[in-house]
Amino acid sequence: MSEATTGERLPAGDQPKAAGGRSSTADDPPKEAVGPLIRGLTVIRRLALAGGRRTVSDLTRDTGLARSTVDRVLATLARLGYLRPAGRDAALAPALMELGNAYLAASRLPGLLGPYADGLADELDESVSLAVPDADGVRFVHQVPRRRRMTATFRVGDLLPAESAAPGALFAAGWSPGEWESWRARVAADPGHAGFPVLPPDRDGAHGADSFEIRAALARREGWSVDDQLIEPGLIAVAVPVRDDTGAVVCAVSVVSHTSRHDAASLRDAMLPRLRETVAAMEHALTAPPAAGPVGVARAPVTGAGSEFVESLARGLAVLTAFTTAGMPLSALAEAAGLPRATVRRALITLTHLGYVAAEGRLFRLTPRVLDLGYACLARLTLPRIAEPHLAGLAGEVHDSASMAILAEDDIRYVARVPAERIMSVDITVGTRFPAYATSMGRVLLAGLGDADRSAYLARADLRPLTRHTVTSPVRLAALLDQAARDGYALVDQELEEGLRSVAVPVRDRAGEVVAAVNVSTHAHRQAAGQTREAVLPALREAAARIEHDLHIATRFARIQTA
Ligand code: PHB
Repeated sequence: MSEATTGERLPAGDQPKAAGGRSSTADDPPKEAVGPLIRGLTVIRRLALAGGRRTVSDLTRDTGLARSTVDRVLATLARLGYLRPAGRDAALAPALMELGNAYLAASRLPGLLGPYADGLADELDESVSLAVPDADGVRFVHQVPRRRRMTATFRVGDLLPAESAAPGALFAAGWSPGEWESWRARVAADPGHAGFPVLPPDRDGAHGADSFEIRAALARREGWSVDDQLIEPGLIAVAVPVRDDTGAVVCAVSVVSHTSRHDAASLRDAMLPRLRETVAAMEHALTAPPAAGPVGVARAPVTGAGSEFVESLARGLAVLTAFTTAGMPLSALAEAAGLPRATVRRALITLTHLGYVAAEGRLFRLTPRVLDLGYACLARLTLPRIAEPHLAGLAGEVHDSASMAILAEDDIRYVARVPAERIMSVDITVGTRFPAYATSMGRVLLAGLGDADRSAYLARADLRPLTRHTVTSPVRLAALLDQAARDGYALVDQELEEGLRSVAVPVRDRAGEVVAAVNVSTHAHRQAAGQTREAVLPALREAAARIEHDLHIATRFARIQTA
């Protein structure tokens, strides 16, 4: 490997930033740091800052790296499944969320405390979130949005400056003079909050910086903190800290509302009692001993994959995904990653230097900064966006149109479509609805319903003949739904339109529930139905499996919208 092992100097002002946006690693990397890993992480972070997608030449300019270096990094990330096809752009793929998932799982916070946050949101009918301190920022690790919420929604992985969000004052209540000094330096260096791309544009140049020290002092005294429209007009929040058994603040719970329902004082008065009860339950949950983490669950290292493949980058990323608990010694990480100790040691030196890993004695833990590696922008993908590259691959393979649909009342509604050629008399676009009973996607979606929902559908559905082939008997339809459930696919021949045949398979969430269907539609007159099934079904199943793989990684800790 010809890659030098020293760090690449970024252009001035482009030095790797500490999580809070302040520059803390302007110093040269330690001499044992792995240069290709530094450069690979720089590329991922730059792509994330650009929203997850960028032309290769812009990315080369952003990173200040050589074009050939960027090409090798991208080839490696693609090989690992961390990039998805996007024409000539580089685009981050949902599988990259494995890195953030490793931090979130090892921290145990969403797993242990998330259910309490979910319950609180249900009970209060307001959004609730969990956030951790990340240098002088507030990083969200769990989000329970309410549908009616009228404000910008933050995602798991998003970072806000401490002065702008309710939890920030709680975290700052424990800052040392040195931490306050760093915060002041960051505010002076970045008054417009350019280091926090998710923050809406500033109205008055403050976003809460002016009052922050007073609010932190108040938070220390009172044990709660409010955000009275610091981020944007109308958005208000109240937060309470969650402490571990040593009294250290590990995260904060926020209840988020809107000025149409509360003012800051009424929100605090209305929410604080239940918020405090929930925090007491959370603090108790935190005392549960950690379950013995599975060892050796890291993905098998991909190796020996051609001259463009940067092995030391792949190994460094494998070390990130090898973390299963908060504090792990070198030997456990080496075992979990399936890599030599010396390799893991150098990766840890590099990751610690960049702020993605923290060392405490002989134990290493991931920091919330790992979520900077594309997590929040990938958490913004919807299921149709996740599916599209896989549908495009499928359509290219079978030379027919590939689509995704969800159930919308008694119809299917198209949410993604890659046309191959026009085979229907009607144009199908995203948003098109058809009656579920006469379509292959409708059949697999109906087959995935629970018994009660399916019976209710069959009792009320108006099964009109749309062609001379349409099945209009509820008894016959019920038998076909049973068969689709058994077979795991449905083939519908000319029941929606003469000459149109389609085959569909379900897409299931982590819990095994059918959340969408994907299909291929084709001419009925080209071949017999059995031939269509043989020609299409294997590729269709593979595409659905790839979509499910992405969806399951993305939804381990984040909520992904289905449409
Ligand atoms: C949020 O979870 O969206 C949130 C939390 C605290 C704030 C603002 C927004 O101050």
